[in-house]
Amino acid sequence: WKSVEQMDLRGKRVLTRVDLNVPVENGQVTDTTRIDRIVPTIRAILAGGGKPILLAHFGRPKGKVDPSQSLRLVGPALKEALGQPVFFAPDCVGPQAEAAVAALQDGEVLLLENTRFHPEEEKNDPAFAAAMARLGDVYCNDAFSAAHRAHASTEGLARLLPSCAGLLMAEELSALDRALGNPQRPVVAIVGGSKVSTKLDLLNNLVTKVDHLVIGGAMANTFLHAQGYPVGHSLHEPDLAETARAILTAAERAGCEIVLPRDVVVAKELAPGATESFVSPHECPDDMMILDVGPQTVSYVDTVLRGARTLIWNGPVGAFETPPFDAGTHAIARKAADLTQAGGLVSVAGGGDTVAALNDTGVAGHFTYVSSAGGAFLEWMEGKVLPGVAALG
Ligand code: 3PG
Repeated sequence: WKSVEQMDLRGKRVLTRVDLNVPVENGQVTDTTRIDRIVPTIRAILAGGGKPILLAHFGRPKGKVDPSQSLRLVGPALKEALGQPVFFAPDCVGPQAEAAVAALQDGEVLLLENTRFHPEEEKNDPAFAAAMARLGDVYCNDAFSAAHRAHASTEGLARLLPSCAGLLMAEELSALDRALGNPQRPVVAIVGGSKVSTKLDLLNNLVTKVDHLVIGGAMANTFLHAQGYPVGHSLHEPDLAETARAILTAAERAGCEIVLPRDVVVAKELAPGATESFVSPHECPDDMMILDVGPQTVSYVDTVLRGARTLIWNGPVGAFETPPFDAGTHAIARKAADLTQAGGLVSVAGGGDTVAALNDTGVAGHFTYVSSAGGAFLEWMEGKVLPGVAALG
């Protein structure tokens, strides 16, 4: 693929797919991270003499017009981030969109309405993609975080117009390649989250790619259970015991060390401030549940990280949204951030919960790279081809 900076954009209408799927409460954007991160691409298009025409989805309106999921709500935050007016068209195809595009002057930015107000978007309908393509001369995709969707605005359009990757898309792809595609070894992956069943493809891919795989969160309980440890009433998936054992065997064959909790934090309930105890994995009482990794595990992960050159992280290692069960995730995040700052580690993190946990710890800025993607980051880590990236050629 070509980067937007390699394209001749002078006088061209640049249909730019961005991800404006941002949290909004009471009509206000509450986290502008995704907006801030597309600003460089919009500025690069303007600097190259092109006219940015922004396409995006917002929420999941399922093909129906829904004013509560209108991109009109996001316009003011985008204007603020860009420091210039952003014109808005109440549709992304048809006469209103065409008129707004025709009226756009050099130096101006236009935002089109939510692509998902049309059912044809998610069906990747060729006629719908062609209707959008009429609005531009060049297609720029800057929405890595939506690239796992084969939709008209993420995939179809790339086949109809000369295409390029925006700066954020290019940055995401190069950071992820550095972490997993072509990394400096040893590589450590930390995978947390609640269910093994939702991360099977991820675990199976990682054991063939990384040198150490740290498994935390409730999904570690399934592995402990599979190895015959008591897990009390911890969240776990007993049906997946066999699968978990197969992953352990595959890892052994591939020379990947699986790091499971060496000590765990248990409590009677998952509630803020609940009384916690630290026990070894074979000591979880029947009436308690495992909610975090303990200090011995943190210290072992620290040792592993000290010997590593690359870290890729998806998923908190404990019930981080309910203190005190955030301690393990915070401690590991701090250690990874310190090693990164000291210059020894390339650290890449992604996924909504993971980024929230890093922000909470105050160390997101100390990681080498924090992805703006949730589902797309996971699918990329699973080794899947992302249709939006593949279509860029
Ligand atoms: C995201 O928020 O991860 C992306 O915008 C994709 O959204 P979706 O899961 O609704 O396709």
